[in-house]
Amino acid sequence: MDHKELKQFPSDFLWGSASAAYQVEGAWDEDGKGVSVWDNYVRIPGKTFKDTNGDVAVDHYHRYKEDVKLMAEQGLKAYRFSVAWTRIFPNGRGEVNQKGLQFYVDLVDELIAHNIEPVLTLYHWDIPQALQDEYGGWESRKIIADFNNYAKTLFETFRGKVKYWVSLNEQNIFTAHGWLMGIHPPDKKEPKLFYEVNHIANLVNATVINTFHEMKMDGKIGPSFAYSPQYALDSNPKNILAAENAEDALSHFWMDVYLYGEYPIAIFNRLKEQGIAPTFEEGDAELLKSAKPDFLGINYYQSNTVAWNPLENGVGMGEMNTTGKKGTSGESGEPGLYKRVVNPHVERTNWDWEIDPTGIRVAMRRITSRYRVPILITENGLGEYDKVEDGKIHDDYRIDYLSKHVSAIREAISDGATVLGYCTWSYTDLLSWLNGYQKRYGFVYVDQDETMQGSLKRIPKDSYYWYKDVIEKNGSEN
Ligand code: BG6
Repeated sequence: MDHKELKQFPSDFLWGSASAAYQVEGAWDEDGKGVSVWDNYVRIPGKTFKDTNGDVAVDHYHRYKEDVKLMAEQGLKAYRFSVAWTRIFPNGRGEVNQKGLQFYVDLVDELIAHNIEPVLTLYHWDIPQALQDEYGGWESRKIIADFNNYAKTLFETFRGKVKYWVSLNEQNIFTAHGWLMGIHPPDKKEPKLFYEVNHIANLVNATVINTFHEMKMDGKIGPSFAYSPQYALDSNPKNILAAENAEDALSHFWMDVYLYGEYPIAIFNRLKEQGIAPTFEEGDAELLKSAKPDFLGINYYQSNTVAWNPLENGVGMGEMNTTGKKGTSGESGEPGLYKRVVNPHVERTNWDWEIDPTGIRVAMRRITSRYRVPILITENGLGEYDKVEDGKIHDDYRIDYLSKHVSAIREAISDGATVLGYCTWSYTDLLSWLNGYQKRYGFVYVDQDETMQGSLKRIPKDSYYWYKDVIEKNGSEN
């Protein structure tokens, strides 16, 4: 719908930006930090682009003061970061590693001193290797107690200081990549196990949300979901059904559990037919229903267009483009449900991600109507090559991407969505898990590359100054 007049962004809107521990911190074995599954996975040849790793990353661990200073100069209102579990409990549980915890205490204090709201993510994929070895990590229900203990430690430490908490980052991605596609640790392709793992992650999510509320924390908590709204290729009823299938299997399968405490019916029945539905133990259903997130975090990068995909000889899982060579991603889908097709109406990045600002509005509309929950956009951004010219980075393509998304968010607010804030991905350039350092997302350029020998110098890009202006005007010109 068109609005005659758009609503303003709320005056306390959190204009933010984001990162994740493994992708920025470096200092992978300093100050008593334990080893995470990612510290090991990146050392297996061929697993990441040019075997890049986060040993040094962009050295945020040692340069956080410089980074926060840049944030403050930009006028940033919120900074979303994740805590590395292995810094707090090197082996997943036991005694707190005080030095590791101190890093986050200092970071949070630094942010608060500069009037930047910390948004703390408890888990952005770096589970302690010790727990993986001991009981298979996410494969065992033992993780529920260990995760809850880890979360409680952070809740106690940051009570009154951190008001916004993200429980799990992109549960749909880390479970699918780890147990279905075999491209993240622990590198498995086992559908039955994937659904069990995901169910356990749901139980963990519900448990920590309940703990947060039981502890009467002054703040809000919710999961961050990687949401790509599904579109049908055209009005062929079979393609419409394929889009329904995809929305159920790829979106509602997580969001319904977060918000309703139940899996969507058709997909759950299909899993039962296939003998791969997750096991419900006594109390699971009640636990899932009891947890109420205060907001839903949304990581939005692109929409997804699908068409019918027959059960017999249908398209299965395809290759992802992790090289930055446009047009190299393979066809992919789930036979009997949907297959992904190219949307003829949108442009693509060099990594074949579709650029669709309207999609974020569609996403927010769907969430608002189906769940009536406040939304915090916890990630949105453009991964592209950047070039330094005369000490400057003219990333007008990123400004174009971000400004169109900001406008679409304003339209969604005008439609009636409640939006707490907008965190772009990412604040500084960082390690893109599988894509190395060449796929850049930041407002702040960092001199780091696949050699991992960069000077680590920071240079604000043109987009940094663009966002500064957006924040100053509270988005009123978007
Ligand atoms: C999200 C993750 O999936 O997207 C981030 O939460 C990630 O950690 C971002 O970096 C962009 O993805 P990629 O693969 O381009 O780095």
